[in-house]
Amino acid sequence: MNKAEVVKLILKDRPTNTKLESATAFAPTNIALIKYWGKRDCAINLPVTDSLSIALANKGATTKISLIDQAEDEYWVNEQLMAADSAFSTRLNAFLNLFRFQRYHFKVETKINIPIAAGLASSACGFAAVVKALNELFAWQLSDAELSILSRMGSGSASRSIWQGFVHWQAGIREDGMDSHGIALKATWPQLCVGLAIFNSAKKSIGSTEAMNRTVATSKLYSAWPQQVSNELAAIKSAIANHDFNALGMISEHNALSMHATMLSAWPPILYAQPETLSMMNLIWQLRDQGLPIYFTQDAGPNLKLLFEEKASDEIRLQFPNVEIIRPFTC
Ligand code: PMV
Repeated sequence: MNKAEVVKLILKDRPTNTKLESATAFAPTNIALIKYWGKRDCAINLPVTDSLSIALANKGATTKISLIDQAEDEYWVNEQLMAADSAFSTRLNAFLNLFRFQRYHFKVETKINIPIAAGLASSACGFAAVVKALNELFAWQLSDAELSILSRMGSGSASRSIWQGFVHWQAGIREDGMDSHGIALKATWPQLCVGLAIFNSAKKSIGSTEAMNRTVATSKLYSAWPQQVSNELAAIKSAIANHDFNALGMISEHNALSMHATMLSAWPPILYAQPETLSMMNLIWQLRDQGLPIYFTQDAGPNLKLLFEEKASDEIRLQFPNVEIIRPFTC
């Protein structure tokens, strides 16, 4: 299976032309609490394991897609025209090629309110917003699961950016990946907060796909990862159901650190942490020893995302003056 075949399967019997000139959609970014790390099929982004995320409410991508009568696409990010030969344009162009019926060309205008490519899942919300906008533009009326599968053709974690709240991405077992999509959990947790402690907005040194593939191919620790994910997924679901914050925090932090341990044991080694990352981890552990319920998670970048509950937010602001606090269930 390749991406074009997956798109064909999902869009069979759906319109390939439209009377609309443009359509706009928003997709929230998501932070994995149980990480997706490793692909069982690289061609169509099928994961080795399930994963579970929390969406960041109004943080994400708002994307307008218009059909244009030009020889080339045009991509704008936060009102800046992207160079045609940039990595961003190359990746988006390859994705849009999957949907270029009747030789369309697209103008894509994205407003994204998180730093791009700093391990803050900008590609997740970016691809999900493109898929949602295309769904509007062509009036496909796809189900959320189908939108999730199409988003997965852009990046794996995008399959979780279709919904707000907690999302469980089931790895699935089918070769065509039709059972590999997100499922929204019903649970809410109004007191839960995510703090974005961004000290580094630079582009990451190594992309997540390359890092994953190298880890799977060379890390001896990776063989323990699938079983750990399976245990932690069950445990975090029960923490969510019971609003057991310490369990949620502990499982998330442990899962993130274990993922990074698989990367450190890859060869050549992969280390996303910077000196500030380690200082912040030490501060978090120290604050926790002093009784403050705060945990962190870390993705394919140096920045940490803090996990805490509303009642700790004054202290968190004091300790991390630059933190941006997101309340996934209340705004
Ligand atoms: O979706 P990708 O290919 O950008 O990979 C995401 C990988 C992590 O952010 C590290 C983990 C995750 O589940 O989001």
